[in-house]
Amino acid sequence: MRILLFSGKGGVGKTSVAAATGLELARRGHRTLVMSVDPAHSLGDSFDMESTLFERRTSEPYVINDHLSIQEVNIQHEIHRHWREISAYTISILRNTGIRDVEAQELAIIPGMEELSAMMYVNEYRRENRFDVIVLDCAPTAESLRFVSMPATLDWYMKHVFPMQRGLLKAFRPLAKHVSPVELPKDSYFTNVQELFAKLEGIGEVLENPRITSVRLVTNAEKMVLRETQRAYVYFSLHGLTVDQIIVNRVIPDAVTDEFFREWRASQQQILSEIEAYFAPVPVSRIPLFTREVVGASRLDTLAAVLYPSEADPAAVTRLTAPYEFRKVNSHYEVILHLPFVGKGDVKLFKKGDELVVEIGTLRRHVGLPTSMMNLSPGRARVENRQLIVELVE
Ligand SMILES: Nc1ncnc2c1ncn2[C@@H]1O[C@H](COP(=O)(O)OP(=O)(O)O)[C@@H](O)[C@H]1O
Ligand SMILES: [Mg+2]
Repeated sequence: MRILLFSGKGGVGKTSVAAATGLELARRGHRTLVMSVDPAHSLGDSFDMESTLFERRTSEPYVINDHLSIQEVNIQHEIHRHWREISAYTISILRNTGIRDVEAQELAIIPGMEELSAMMYVNEYRRENRFDVIVLDCAPTAESLRFVSMPATLDWYMKHVFPMQRGLLKAFRPLAKHVSPVELPKDSYFTNVQELFAKLEGIGEVLENPRITSVRLVTNAEKMVLRETQRAYVYFSLHGLTVDQIIVNRVIPDAVTDEFFREWRASQQQILSEIEAYFAPVPVSRIPLFTREVVGASRLDTLAAVLYPSEADPAAVTRLTAPYEFRKVNSHYEVILHLPFVGKGDVKLFKKGDELVVEIGTLRRHVGLPTSMMNLSPGRARVENRQLIVELVE
């Protein structure tokens, strides 16, 4: 199975590109699902559906044609399906603080639930071998990063926090009736957490395996959008995901000679050449600004024809370079992180247990070290050939 994850700034064209890719993959005979993980769902709109997917009151995939289905993860359905115990507890706490029922229900949607629910689906479909390709239409960059960092965070929580919390509560419960200001979660809460975790088992490896998962960044030829695309590239790499395509949408076509667009065209050309240089060797594709919105199957087909002009399969695995790797150099070891836009000054490194922690801005990645390197600490770091190289020393 392949997972193609489309990410980028709000409004750049992720949904249109994801939907068009879905149609193209289906045309080539792949059993395809396009899944929207953006809470502001617009996948149904992109296919110009009369009624929204939400009105169907289910998250089940909606069949578009023989090989293509689409799905919008609907958090209200998901709460019912997966999160009952957890949200029941959260709601009871909120009620205790005097918040009304409806508001408590709204507030009980913990950030990240949508992403986790989508991951559960991906995992379920993978186990059932239900689809050949899952196209993920992601929320804007920050949220899609939460999507990919979730498995590692959860893993950490389940290993380090969960057993302690559960154990402590068991011991504390008899006393708590008298002293605790809030109701403590029942043990079924913990069972629910465990069940959820079991459904997510293995998803982290799936996302980090470049033979299964590829990230495709959608951008526009504008400076601010490009900056965000670069940051996204760094963060995805930091989380171990492989970016295999950059898609520049809304490029003003050569045929537009109107004086009004002269400066726009010049700056787009400039940014396009920067994009090619920055992301090399990751291939950069272009989509023109069309004369109208890309809504409905026939316009999505037009977009697909531009984006996939050759016989090359959009699901093909084209890049296998891991975002980071380890090597031994003479007497010391090195960790090589492929982070082309990072200066050595932006990065903080330290050791925590058997992990190397890399911090870039507010983002943090735990890189598990192989046994042979567990006792080493980060020494000097240097930037070389668009790679950050960290020496690990005794
Ligand atoms: N190349 C294009 N030419 C014209 N309109 C486009 C193009 N790409 C996207 N659009 C339109 O722009 C709007 C936003 O696109 P969308 O795919 O929903 O972006 P995102 O999912 O990134 O927020 C939609 O109305 C879409 O039809
Ligand atoms: Mg969208």
